[in-house]
Amino acid sequence: MHYFRYIGNELYAEEVPVNDLIRTYGTPLYVYSYRTLERHYRAYADAFKDFPHIICYAAKANSNGAILRALGRLGSGADVVSAGELYRVLKAGIPARKIVYAGVGKTDEEITYAIKKGILMFNIESDQELFRINELAGSLSRRAPIALRINPDIDPETHPYISTGLKKNKFGIPIEDALQYYREAKRMKNIRIMGVHKHIGSQITQVRPFVDALERVLVLVDSLMAEGIDIRYLDLGGGLGIRYNEEDPPHPREFARALKKLLRKRTFTIILEPGRSIIGNAGILLTKVLYTKKGVDREFLIVDAAMNDLMRPTLYDAYHHIIPVQKRRRRKTVADVVGPICESGDFLARQREMPAVRQGEYLAVMSAGAYGFSMSSNYNSRPRPAEVLVNGKDHYLIRKRETMRDLMRGEAIPEFLRK
Ligand code: LLP
Repeated sequence: MHYFRYIGNELYAEEVPVNDLIRTYGTPLYVYSYRTLERHYRAYADAFKDFPHIICYAAKANSNGAILRALGRLGSGADVVSAGELYRVLKAGIPARKIVYAGVGKTDEEITYAIKKGILMFNIESDQELFRINELAGSLSRRAPIALRINPDIDPETHPYISTGLKKNKFGIPIEDALQYYREAKRMKNIRIMGVHKHIGSQITQVRPFVDALERVLVLVDSLMAEGIDIRYLDLGGGLGIRYNEEDPPHPREFARALKKLLRKRTFTIILEPGRSIIGNAGILLTKVLYTKKGVDREFLIVDAAMNDLMRPTLYDAYHHIIPVQKRRRRKTVADVVGPICESGDFLARQREMPAVRQGEYLAVMSAGAYGFSMSSNYNSRPRPAEVLVNGKDHYLIRKRETMRDLMRGEAIPEFLRK
């Protein structure tokens, strides 16, 4: 569910005509709906309300400071994967005690920074990382709170690039080795064991893989408890899918119901790390049709947004619904929606059946709130789009469109080239 809809023939973001936003801020433009993200956050909070839990929004999905602040105000914690994300979420006012930190390649500087800030726990992905965190915590005379990220070897039946809980993936510690790693961790002077973590993938549209993974993890938790290793937090990761096209993903309520069945009589605090299911459908990307062009065997709509702005179609062959900002009676056509970048892979949709829009009209690329701006780049020296947050009748610029100067920020010309 989201609050982008037509009123009459015009697309609205909540109570704001999208055309007004285009006039004010230009295109390409990311627009987010505050009410939508609030609704999605509350759906999770509600679904788990009778179970001790922390929702740690996955900052990688969309790390704009205003979005993070909005979620923090609603009570969210954060899942981070770099010092940069940790910095952002702390700046947004999210308390360190609600922050978990995953990632296979944490550097010494990142680990030190997180220990000093007092995060809830590190989700550790290898034995070497465990040793390193123990050493670094020792040199700071601190004990580092940790969970081990367990790879339960579950197939989440999603795109191979975004499945993470399979044996062949680089993530986590094989579940067979986990007990031994926990024993080692228990002997380490500067480590405090807090919990167990797992995350099996993203855009998962069924409850089953989550249930299977949790069952496996609970077997491990029981063995740990039997050895006197206290598990206070069970971090179930993120991954709940959203509707891009025809998918029918479970509501957080359904997801919670299935998990809670397995968690009866358990006393730990559950951590959830949703990203996409909070912000995905709360954002759209607006773009202008620069040209329409007849190719030999197809039509092209050449728009001013490109793969550098929204990489998902190119990278995963992902589907994003594309609709005109202004509805009119028009014939239907089949078109490739492509950007200005010099790559054949630069498309937002291919062979898409859609209304035949004309040069100068505007399109909305739907469900672009998650992994849209956060995966954008400056490829082809394209300044990144502006971002706007809508709340009811009001709209706010939450990131300026980049300028030409921004493109060259930090560059320097060596002395020998100056002469
Ligand atoms: N927790 C961990 C440890 C993760 O690695 C991720 C996502 C999440 C939580 C949040 O997952 P979500 O609830 O958003 O599914 N760029 C890809 C998705 C990559 C997901 C990476 N990890 C895409 O655009 O589909």
